[in-house]
Amino acid sequence: MKILVIGSGGREHALAWKLAQSKRVQCVYVAPGNGGTACDARLQNVPITDLIALCDWAQSEGIALTVVGPEGPLSSGVVDLFRSRSMRIVGPSKDAAQLESSKAFSKAFMQRHGIPTAAFETFSDVSLAHAYVAQHGAPIVIKADGLAAGKGVVVAMTLAHAHEAIDWMLLSDTAGVVHNKGGARVVIEEFLEGQEASFMVLCNGLSALPLATSQDHKRLLDQDQGPNTGGMGAYSPAPVVTPEIHAKVLREIIRPTLEGMMKEGMPFTGFLYAGLMISSSGEVKTLEFNTRLGDPETQPIMMRLKNDWVDVLWASTEPSVHSDASSRAIHPLDRMDLQWDRRVALGVVLASHGYPQKVRTGDLIESLPKESEDCVVFHAGTSYAPSQWKTTGGRVLCVSALGDTLTQAQQLAYETIKHIQFGGMQYRSDIGWRAKRET
Ligand code: AMP
Ligand code: GLY
Repeated sequence: MKILVIGSGGREHALAWKLAQSKRVQCVYVAPGNGGTACDARLQNVPITDLIALCDWAQSEGIALTVVGPEGPLSSGVVDLFRSRSMRIVGPSKDAAQLESSKAFSKAFMQRHGIPTAAFETFSDVSLAHAYVAQHGAPIVIKADGLAAGKGVVVAMTLAHAHEAIDWMLLSDTAGVVHNKGGARVVIEEFLEGQEASFMVLCNGLSALPLATSQDHKRLLDQDQGPNTGGMGAYSPAPVVTPEIHAKVLREIIRPTLEGMMKEGMPFTGFLYAGLMISSSGEVKTLEFNTRLGDPETQPIMMRLKNDWVDVLWASTEPSVHSDASSRAIHPLDRMDLQWDRRVALGVVLASHGYPQKVRTGDLIESLPKESEDCVVFHAGTSYAPSQWKTTGGRVLCVSALGDTLTQAQQLAYETIKHIQFGGMQYRSDIGWRAKRET
């Protein structure tokens, strides 16, 4: 079959790379793709970004299954569009994608359904927001209500920083946030302490298939310093998610979310990503929902997955079947058993000069190593013109390695990075440090 992956980042490269390994696949198309997907003989880039034009193309090409990577097309309704033409697509409807595209929606949803999350209030009035912060003190967290590519959150350690963030998000045009209906809003919430983890499940209605756990590194600099980014590196599994925590997340977060979405007439399909904060006493709260896979978490997760990914994604788009034995519909996802490589996978993001603020592009990338069984360089912000790669975005590459231990995966990833060069390249040298501390 022919498969389409929508997006152009490292996550989409990893998804396409894994899908192309399936015997059921004739070709994996990536729209629009990047310099890495352009060079892989099993993949083909499609230079279409307009969603209606892409849907027309997919229909005429006979695409059997489409997988959506980023949040943008989901909140623009790409899933509704493809489904209206009876095409199979992995992702949530536009309504369900609000769990990510509106912090105000998702926080209110969590409150309605008793899903553990930080205490919060939502504001569109600047002076009320300032008054709330003055009353609650710092540290406090200010979040823009709208898609912001991972950059719409300010964890303010001082009151001055919190006030500045409110003005920036509510009054200036430079915040880079796609506002929801009703204009600029902020969610102001309680500061939580603990360890973060990424918990992703593939869903259909009430059925949820958990993927391997992972941990991202959101800050730009070593030791979790510097500004928040889209993610500077990740590893899987995340030891902080013990079997007890895993069961608790399914019971207290994932299941009530799927039930709540069903009750509210927005049954959830596709990937649900709960960003967790796990306290030292084992309390778990939801920091945020994403309605897609994480980037860069997907890169190490795909390296560990042993199943045929096409089988899994295909199953997720099947309708439920009613069983006589129970009133609850059985979904093919319920019968799916994911197998994971026992090794640790770890991915280090190489970012451009100036990321995450003022990104420089057009730098020449030199000496990219060939893929091996235990090390793959996934591309994100790259383009390819005969025999040369150039940087085109903030996050450029994700060097992903497998190892019997976290230290071995780390060594292989960092050894590989020594061979890669581009002007202004920046990366963290401590990806995996929290897991290393624990094991
Ligand atoms: P979000 O996009 O909501 O996940 O926020 C981005 C990052 O900001 C998270 O990964 C955390 O590192 C941090 N963050 C968000 N909310 C909180 C909170 N309530 N307390 C502490 N840190 C937070
Ligand atoms: N790595 C975090 C995210 O994808 O939102």
